[in-house]
Amino acid sequence: MRTHYCGKVDTSLIDETVTVCGWAHRRRDHGGVIFVDLRDRTGLLQIVADPDESQAFAIADAVRGEFVLQITGRVRKRPEGTVNPDLATGEVEVYAKQFEILNRSLPLPFQLDDTDMGEAVRLKYRYLDLRREDMQQKLRLRHRVIRSLRSFLEDQDFIEIETPVLTRSTPEGARDYLVPSRTQAGHFFALPQSPQLFKQILMIAGFERYFQIARCFRDEDLRADRQPEFTQLDIETSFLDETGIMALMEAMVRALFRDVLGEALPDPFPHMSYGEAIDKYGTDRPDLRIPLQLVELKDLMDKVEFKVFAEPAKSGGRVAALRVPAGGQLTRQRIDQYTEYVKQFGAKGLAYIKVNDPSQGRDGLQSPILKFLPDAVIAALLERTASGQGDLIFFGADRANVVNESLSSLRTRLAGDMGLIQPGWQPLWITDFPMFEYDAEAKRWQSLHHPFTGVQPEYVDRLDTNPGATLSRAYDMVLNGAEIGGGSVRIHQEPVQQKVFQVLGIEIDDARHKFGFLLDALKYGAPPHGGIAFGLDRLIAMMSDAESIREVIAFPKTQKAACLLTEAPSEVDADQLRELHIRLRKPKTGAQ
Ligand code: AMO
Ligand code: AMP
Repeated sequence: MRTHYCGKVDTSLIDETVTVCGWAHRRRDHGGVIFVDLRDRTGLLQIVADPDESQAFAIADAVRGEFVLQITGRVRKRPEGTVNPDLATGEVEVYAKQFEILNRSLPLPFQLDDTDMGEAVRLKYRYLDLRREDMQQKLRLRHRVIRSLRSFLEDQDFIEIETPVLTRSTPEGARDYLVPSRTQAGHFFALPQSPQLFKQILMIAGFERYFQIARCFRDEDLRADRQPEFTQLDIETSFLDETGIMALMEAMVRALFRDVLGEALPDPFPHMSYGEAIDKYGTDRPDLRIPLQLVELKDLMDKVEFKVFAEPAKSGGRVAALRVPAGGQLTRQRIDQYTEYVKQFGAKGLAYIKVNDPSQGRDGLQSPILKFLPDAVIAALLERTASGQGDLIFFGADRANVVNESLSSLRTRLAGDMGLIQPGWQPLWITDFPMFEYDAEAKRWQSLHHPFTGVQPEYVDRLDTNPGATLSRAYDMVLNGAEIGGGSVRIHQEPVQQKVFQVLGIEIDDARHKFGFLLDALKYGAPPHGGIAFGLDRLIAMMSDAESIREVIAFPKTQKAACLLTEAPSEVDADQLRELHIRLRKPKTGAQ
């Protein structure tokens, strides 16, 4: 229907006749001359209609926003003074000879150029929202990312294999989405939280190198970086240890950033143990673009008078400091705001010391807690935090996870507020995770990753005697403070897998019931294997500088896990429920 794309019409086509198609992005009536900015997926092109071409003019006059048009006309140079340097086609226009309206549009619920309309209306009219240049760019970037990843993996002899969506529960720590079976009353499929078990089975089946762009489903509380259905780049390999897998995966991510963004990531990526990350940053996904670090003070504080510090120091908690360079300029009001901020992570307060002049010892400092601390402790903490003139030191003292969560979040927030985040990309591998964490509420050990994660060899024999000290063969890839991928070398020996289930308090019968197929498969020559999964939506959101992963998903769900476009989830009719052997507990009035 067209000879050229709008965005490709330039001065090389002057005096030629072209036919273009697209949407009326804007229409302006300049007293007897009508201008239409015609938009297709390549960009905008200015169309001019004047009364000399009376038929074209009459139709142009009837055009409204987002009408679909087909226009034939002559390309000409724009008159002096009307060139638009911001537009690729800004030096030319098309003088319309034939003008056809292919379809009309209702007046829009919002202007496409409007950048701050509410997300609800954007999601309800997603087809209009997606017409916006910005959204088109993001989905194109998504396509280019997936193409680059596929091509790297293809070159490395990986093959793409699909795994079922109607399956059994896969334990990744979230709630399952269930699908009732019609043919087996009272039975349910679970949608996969990841293809974890299938990819391990594919290794046992001898494929050696598998990947999949896999949709995963997790019914969990949603945040800006989570969706109930999201996409993983899921990978599994045989006969590679963690060093080999990490090297291959970071090469893939380097190639990706080079191909798609023209950015060079470090080679190799730095590695940091989980323990070091928690000590220095209070989190296992530190943003290394921020130069601030936590400093441990527990050993200094166990004998001080100040109970707020002494109690956690004595009872296995954490006392840590965060020095803020030039933080002395923070007003009382700002400090109060930060104190409120850390309270949401369970902190009871946020002690601080302003360092006006460290050479004067106590006299050069300003703080409500000075009177509780002896000189020697003050001197030691100034030295340990390397505090200089004009700095401010914040303190956290509580159970370790409260201190870690509050100070790590404060670190990120302060760095944003004070412009301390350095530009660029800072990837990082986190390794040496604990196998288990203790769930005090449920009074049992839980997997930090999933129960198929391998155990570091020196811990295999004592894994049940001291589960808390056992380190796993897991690794996470962190980029600018976000976990973009995680994986591990797996357990490939069935007795070790049984032992891990025991530590987790999963009874043999229960284990057989849930993962019997995997336990059986492990007995038939399972090769050593391992892999990783990347959160593609997260990665792409970061690469396109989007605030939320919803910006890089064509049809995302809201915070309440609803699709506003299709109005899913929805009620279903009684016949359908009957077929599925389901009776609703509370029949709603108005339900069909
Ligand atoms: P994991 O649970 O760490 O590992 O998931 C891998 C990556 O997926 C992304 N991710 C999400 N993205 C958007 N919305 C969500 N709700 C969501 N949940 C997770 C994260 C995360 O790093 N089977 C293992 C992988 C393996 O061991 O190979 C797994 O699924 O970026
Ligand atoms: P208080 O003794 O409660 O008046 O607290 C004195 C100072 O210590 C105040 O600045 C509080 O914000 C701070 N503070 C109180 N509890 C904690 C805590 N658990 N961790 C860090 N600072 C605290």
